Amino acid sequence: MHRIMVIHGPNLNLIGTREPDIYGSQSLEDINQAMRTEARELDLEVTIVQTNHEGELVEEIQKAGKQADALIINPAAYTHTSVAILDAVKAISIPAIEVHMSNVHAREDFRHHSYIAGVVAGRIMGFGAESYLLALRAAKSILSI
Ligand code: DQA
Repeated sequence: MHRIMVIHGPNLNLIGTREPDIYGSQSLEDINQAMRTEARELDLEVTIVQTNHEGELVEEIQKAGKQADALIINPAAYTHTSVAILDAVKAISIPAIEVHMSNVHAREDFRHHSYIAGVVAGRIMGFGAESYLLALRAAKSILSI
């Protein structure tokens, strides 16, 4: 069974109450539960973590490189700022899928740049919680080739 590591970045622990007009009313736990259900249907083993700390994100990415077959990552605000996260994603040899709940290109200019966009297998954004479920499907498809 393929192993997928899902990493949520800063402030995603607050979704459900954080800017619900942008991120919806489902909590992170609701989304994680939906991912576990989808993963079961796709016959994937899923491990999910969330951290608000950049260095911990780097450590989780490194761990994914050793323990998983694919990485699904929403680096949240660090998408737009972090060379350390870019370097960590470059340092692992498993495919990574970048996820955003919102369509970052429909938002402020500073969200249009992603440090990791050029090194991931693909990017999924703009579908709210569904973005994560689509990412699981993408991971399944990449790993089945
Ligand atoms: C986000 C978009 C980022 O710009 C923002 O900083 C987030 C969440 C998203 O999922 O839409 O925290 O990654």
